[in-house]
Amino acid sequence: MNLPHTITSKGPDSVIDLIGLIEGQRDLIHTDLLQNGSVLFRGFKVHSPEDFEQVATALRSDLQNNYQGTSPRNSRTTFVHSASELPGHYPIMQHCEMSFLPTAPRYLLFFCHVQPSGGGQTPVCDFRKVYEQLDPTVREEFERKGVRYVRNYSGPLSKKGLDLFQLKPWHELFKTTDRTEVERQCAETGLRATWLPDDRLRLENDRPAMLRHPDTGEMVWFNHLQVFHKEAAAIEYGHILRHRKDWMALKYATLLQLATLYKRMFKDPMSEAMHVLYGDGSPIPTAHVKHVEDIIWKNLKPFDWQLGDVLMIDNFSTSHGRLPYQGPRDILVAWTS
Ligand SMILES: [Fe+2]
Repeated sequence: MNLPHTITSKGPDSVIDLIGLIEGQRDLIHTDLLQNGSVLFRGFKVHSPEDFEQVATALRSDLQNNYQGTSPRNSRTTFVHSASELPGHYPIMQHCEMSFLPTAPRYLLFFCHVQPSGGGQTPVCDFRKVYEQLDPTVREEFERKGVRYVRNYSGPLSKKGLDLFQLKPWHELFKTTDRTEVERQCAETGLRATWLPDDRLRLENDRPAMLRHPDTGEMVWFNHLQVFHKEAAAIEYGHILRHRKDWMALKYATLLQLATLYKRMFKDPMSEAMHVLYGDGSPIPTAHVKHVEDIIWKNLKPFDWQLGDVLMIDNFSTSHGRLPYQGPRDILVAWTS
């Protein structure tokens, strides 16, 4: 099993025991995180969202609850949310949380509240290795041009769309129906807001494709190409099919290939829920997306969740995603500033 770095309980340890361990080994845990990018706490009696919030607060005192990402999430406690309400067959491609915004969180914490019985892993990947292993020509182009993100939102007065994937409406994202307030919040985070017919809103922003790690100075692949590009989901499901080799993966891999072909032929990418270009507005070739996803899958750690697992991730070095699943699964998340 290709586990992240793991701290295992030596006995029937309670939440209080785990908090004691965290307080006693804070420097060691920080060093582990810097080296390995993630730490898994396994075998401790963490049962509920409230238990998890206590553990998360012990690990980091700067938890936040202002989510500006693209996954639908439900709140469970003040700082604990469901990781994603997307249907189980959707792939969630590897990403560093909110790397398309200047306010990306420094750390993420996940908790296995209901253990999935089939699939549903949350693989992690060291994006420092991805940066290192990319073809230097591809890497240089991303480094030089940066990336431009485009997101399209419906509003409270929009007609219902037929698209398979839609972001939550802009008045839910910004928690207001006041357009002036939306524009003020956008200006704060460098988002260009364009109001479109039918009460729709387009957000665009330009970001670097790489990050220098604030503690170690290492370079990190740090962008949302693998989530925002229209070809990415089909490429991802191709990898999932090679990994799983089952009929369900074959079915969705085929459906995604067809959906992507349809998009390629009939849809303006600028009208998609999410779209990504180079920072100069030129298109990113599919071959580059495929190359990046190939390198990610070479370095992926798709470990199986166990009930009560708590996973801490350095979001500035390590990505996460989700493999498809069937049946019950409840993975919760908390994040820091
Ligand atoms: Fe995420």
